[in-house]
This record gives sequence, structure tokens and C-alpha cells, in this order.
Amino acid sequence: MLLHRVVIAHLRQACRLKSTPSRLCIQACSTDDSLQPQCPSLAFSGDNSSTGGWKVMGTLLGLGAVLAYHDHRCKAAQESPHIYTREEVRSHSSPETRIWVTLGCEVFDVTEFVDLHPGGPSKLMLAAGGPLEPFWALYAVHNQPHVRELLAQYKIGELSPEDEVPSTLKTSDPYSDDPVRHPALKVNSQRPFNAEPPPELLTENYITPNPIFFTRNHLPVPNLDPETYRLHVVGPPGGQSLCLSLDDLYKFPKHEITVTLQCAGNRRSEMTQFKEVRGLEWNTGAISTARWAGARLCDVLAKAGHQPCETEAHVCFEGLDSDPTGTAYGASIPLARAMDPEAEVLLAYEMNGQPLPRDHGFPVRVVVPGVVGARHVKWLGKVSVEPEESYSHWQRRDYKGFSPSVDWDTVDFDSAPSIQELPVQSAITEPRDGETVQSGEVTIKGYAWSGGGRAVVRVDVSLDGGLTWHVAELDGEEQRPRKAWAWRLWQLQAPVPAGRKELNIVCKAVDDSYNVQPDTVAPIWNLRGVLSNAWHRVHVHVAP
Ligand code: MTE
Repeated sequence: MLLHRVVIAHLRQACRLKSTPSRLCIQACSTDDSLQPQCPSLAFSGDNSSTGGWKVMGTLLGLGAVLAYHDHRCKAAQESPHIYTREEVRSHSSPETRIWVTLGCEVFDVTEFVDLHPGGPSKLMLAAGGPLEPFWALYAVHNQPHVRELLAQYKIGELSPEDEVPSTLKTSDPYSDDPVRHPALKVNSQRPFNAEPPPELLTENYITPNPIFFTRNHLPVPNLDPETYRLHVVGPPGGQSLCLSLDDLYKFPKHEITVTLQCAGNRRSEMTQFKEVRGLEWNTGAISTARWAGARLCDVLAKAGHQPCETEAHVCFEGLDSDPTGTAYGASIPLARAMDPEAEVLLAYEMNGQPLPRDHGFPVRVVVPGVVGARHVKWLGKVSVEPEESYSHWQRRDYKGFSPSVDWDTVDFDSAPSIQELPVQSAITEPRDGETVQSGEVTIKGYAWSGGGRAVVRVDVSLDGGLTWHVAELDGEEQRPRKAWAWRLWQLQAPVPAGRKELNIVCKAVDDSYNVQPDTVAPIWNLRGVLSNAWHRVHVHVAP
């Protein structure tokens, strides 16, 4: 038992992780927007006599030895740094030769960390034998104290001065060509760019103005030439594939609809407050509404010779944004939805009467009404019909929901369906949490929306944490049955009960299937912090 404790302590210290590393966390650490090391607690049997216990013990001893070796190398590196040439570093680029990387003038042996890399081993292997700078420039989330601290554990020496990183690498920034953004946006991450409008602007207009529409990018924004842009639509076996220019797309009947787009991670910050999750800290603004225009996907698929089919099939989309391995952003939706004219899936080239802004997919993106934002693929390059869902990371290893009991040790991404239609949602945008409101009467505003075209039929608002309720007034466009693709804005003017010094304002929406929001986060908490739709709560003070 003492030995166990020593090894575990060693592992903890070496990795600076909350708990012990395990290979399982490697599979789980797949998200692109949070590279925080997340290692689950080790299921460690107290019964040493069991075979499992000995296996775990053996693994720990192995790992312990490796990490002890590391500590030894690290200490040595700190005391009198060994000097390596870049040529020597280059020769360490495989597990057989060990895997070295450099950052600035420092050299690291990351062989043992490769499998623990939150973005997956293959991403780290891209830098094997060379500098980390070009990759850290792409995934800026690395450039944080805790990541540098983690890396420091693996330092083995320094580069000879004449071999330091070429200045071109230091300065090359794959995001340097990203568009200029509106200063009102609340930025969650600069590289890749992710930002939301502040609540008070979000519900100012029923249609969100393009410059403040929330932005969710996983990679640098491609700069595409509308003259040379082509969309490849793969035809069915024996059919014709299409290679469509923008002018070709304009020839399809133009279809225009108002659609609300919501990221699966909207309101994730409330889940984080309950228990840590992995992902960008979105508040209530990872949602926006626009008037989209373009060709219907069903018309384009039909032109390529596709037909609705009895067997399960999926329409896979590929973006023209890609990572250094050339892997493009991708996602898919069921063929049945894509081929259904009533589902109104668009290949959109206009947003609020303008060509799409670059951040929102110029020149063409998919708009899938009623479905999670992740499937609305931007900078669309390719459409194909496949027997299976897209193999993209974002279809299969992200944007899925799990039980609160599932952690990064036990998660099995294949066991859960990809998120498509989103659940009923609402949030308060005015007043803000912590604000002071006047006594007498309070005005409360917000938005409500449900996935799958389900209309919001009611929004209930409470001033006393859910003990008593008022019904809010719904504004915004009338909704078509089963095609309620856009949100309702709502407001309530309510008297402030005399003598109250503070209000616990709560809202919850009801859709036309009588789906309601859960009252608390706890029962819907999940490790990725998606589908966060508990009652929204705002605490305000009342002016004396
Ligand atoms: N399409 C591409 N090609 N690349 C992306 O990073 N992000 C997706 C989706 N389409 C993404 C993409 C996600 S997760 C969301 S929520 C929406 O785009 C966001 O669209 P917006 O930035 O226009 O609001």
C-alpha cells in the first residue's frame, strides 16, 4: 500500500494533474477547444490480492519508473542544461528514437506525454523532432501558464544558441488573415475566434445584426475567392457529380427563412459553476438569429441524382477550413432531413440580405433549421451521401450528451448519438446578474427557442426563485406549425413586491410538445458541458 501511495504521489507530482493519468483519458481528451489536461481518478481496488489490483500495480510501477526517469532528466536539465543541436532534435521524432520537441531555446522529451495529449497523439506527433511554435500559434489555447508548467516537467536541455527557432516560425500566425471583428463581441477565445454578443445587445433586435452574430470557429477562417469557389456535390453511384460555382448555385430557386442558430455549448459556464467541464465558457450568447437565403439542399441533391432512400443514409459536409494535417471541419445530418423540402435545409449564400460574412461561412454554408449549430457547416467545400455519419471528430468525438455519472475515464463516444435537434431553451438577457433594479416595477427580457421546429408556446418567469410564476409576453415573428425555426423574444413587466431587497429571477420555456426546461443543472451536467438548458437564474438587488 505504501508503494502504491509513493507511485501515485509521484505520478501526481510529475503530471501536475488533479489525479492520476491513465491511457483512458487519452481517448477522452479529444476536444479542440480545451486542452486542459483532464485525467480521471484511477479506479484503484483496495484489494491487493485481486488480479486487477496487481495489473494496476504493475502499470503504476511501469509508469512510476518512466516518470522517475523523467524527474531525473528534468532535474539534470535544470541544473546544467544539456545543449542539443537542431539536427539532434530532428532525429528524435518517433517512439523508437523518443519524441523531442522544442519551444524557444528549450528542448523537451515528450515521449511519455504523447498518448496523454488532450488533442490526441497524432496532433502532437506533427511537431515531433521540431518546434512547437507553429502548432501553438494554431491552437492558441496552449499558450497558458498551466500548459507551460506541464511542459516544463519534460525539459531535457536547451538548443545550441545558433540553432534557436527561426524568426519566421516565431512570427507565423495562421490567424493573421482572420477578419476584423466588432468590438462589442465578448471574446471567449481569439485563436480560433469564438465570441458572443453581450446579453443586452442580443435581444435588442429580433434579427441579430451580422457584426454581432455569435461566432464559433474551430480553425482559422479561410479566405475564399468567390470567382474560383466551387462546391463539389458527389453524385450517387452511376449518377453525376456536380461542381458548382456561385453562379450555378444562384440558378437554383432562392429560398429564404429566419433561423436561430445555437451552439451546443451555449450556457456552458453555468455547468462549470456546478462542476468542471471541458470547453469554451459560453454565457447565454452562443445563440443568434438571422434571415438566411440560398438554394435548398434537397434541390441540389436531386440535381445530382440523389433520391430519398429507405435505408439509413447521411449527408456529409466538409468545410474548407483545415488543420495542419489537412483535416477539414466536417459534420453530417440524416439524408431524410436533407431530402425533405419541409425541413428547409439551405446551402445559404446570404445572411440578412448580405453575402455571408467571412466569419459565418463566406461564400456558402449549410443552414439546418432546428438543429445544433455544429451541423451548419461553414465555408462548404463538399457534400456527399454516405451510409454512415461523417467520420469527423466533431460528429463522432464531440457534441454528444452523456449521463452526469460519465467521466473522462469512462466515456464511450460511440455509445451516444450525435446531437441533432436541440432541447427547449430560454434565458434572461435583462436585467443582468448582480444589477440593481428600481423598486415599483421591473422589466425582464429574454429569448426562448426549441429545436426541431417546435414552437415556444409559453415562457414562465418567477421573481422569487420559482415559488410563484408570471407568464411573459412573447414577441417576434409568428411561427409556422412544425417549422418554428426561430426564437421568440419575450418580456415581462412585473411589480416588485413591497419591501423586497433582492429578487431571484428565473425563467423557463415550454414548447408545443410540452417539453420544459429542467430546474437545475445537476441532473443534466455532462463532462462536455453541452445541452445546458436548466432554468436560467438572475439575482438582482432592489434599490431602496
Ligand atoms: N463549420 C466549419 N467549417 N468550421 C467550424 O469551425 N463551427 C460549427 C458550425 N460550422 C464550424 C462550422 C459550430 S460548432 C457552430 S456552433 C456554428 O458553425 C457556428 O456558426 P457561426 O459562427 O456562424 O455562429
